[in-house]
Amino acid sequence: MDKSLEEILQEAAEKFSAAGDSHALYEAKMAYLGKTGKVGALYKKLRELPESERPAFGAQINELRRAIEERVAVIEEMLHERELSDRLQSEQVDVTMPGRRRQQGTLHPVTRVKNMLIDVFAGMGFEVFEGPEIETDYYNFTALNTPADHPARDMQDTFYLANGLLLRTQTSAGQIRLMEQKKPPIKMLSPGRVFRSDDDATHSPMFHQMEGLVVDKNITLCDLQGMLDEFARVIFGKGSKTRLRPSYFPFTEPSVEVDVSCHACGGKGCSLCKGTGWIEVLGAGMVNRRVLENCGIDPDEYSGFAFGMGIERIAMLKYGINNIKLLTENDVRFLGQFKD
Ligand code: DAH
Repeated sequence: MDKSLEEILQEAAEKFSAAGDSHALYEAKMAYLGKTGKVGALYKKLRELPESERPAFGAQINELRRAIEERVAVIEEMLHERELSDRLQSEQVDVTMPGRRRQQGTLHPVTRVKNMLIDVFAGMGFEVFEGPEIETDYYNFTALNTPADHPARDMQDTFYLANGLLLRTQTSAGQIRLMEQKKPPIKMLSPGRVFRSDDDATHSPMFHQMEGLVVDKNITLCDLQGMLDEFARVIFGKGSKTRLRPSYFPFTEPSVEVDVSCHACGGKGCSLCKGTGWIEVLGAGMVNRRVLENCGIDPDEYSGFAFGMGIERIAMLKYGINNIKLLTENDVRFLGQFKD
């Protein structure tokens, strides 16, 4: 090879060896073999030579090109291998490392109890109906046989809003809304939030209730107790019993308080049931004739029962929670204890 071409090859080989990575090598390669590279310039020069000198010089340039290509290929392969092993090294995964645990949430105890109640009563053919949280005085009180001057209004401290609206104090308001829309037979379950100006260890200004309503021909208190027995067994355990005590609610006649045998002592008497063996869990009764009439249902043809319970109260009894605030603070250390 001509001396000047030898020098080009020498210089190219040095540049290739100096290339630190494939990208630098490519740049170096292009400086020789690219369109405007040094080898290209030699081909241009070739065209300017007298015809007789061209074949010999052409063969020399071809030889130079092949020699350059060979060196590039060697270094290319070396760099490629090095880069691959660097990458494998840097992307190495230690399969023996412990995995990152995913935090899994749990259902809130109020949601759990609500779901259980819906399951029990849906199994007996009840359909779920949800009324509005902002109610009129009519649905929350008047239609439930509690007119403005009725002393029973004092049983619940109401949050009043403007324009005669209020935050519902009881899910019983849903009974009226449903009976206006639907005629018997009715089997309704109405879960929801209710609001009262009340605040201590067992009362919160916002809590949840579950209302039940059955209206059909020949419905009696026995039907109520039969269904509540089933509810008590599912929520508080197989051996649970219920008893009805006379009480008063404006929208039921007769009205009862329903007690469940104490699940902590089995009815013998303990601190939870204050030695009585019974725990009060809900209010209920036969739907007052006036309430049926207010909804256009003939009380001589149909009768019904209704019940209403506080979901927080049931959850507190079931899980042994002594302060209702625990259910609204939502401390995950507390909530995490309620797992399936
Ligand atoms: N609404 C009542 C309360 O909040 C609970 C209640 C009692 C609901 C008797 C009823 C019922 O449907 O029949 O205290």
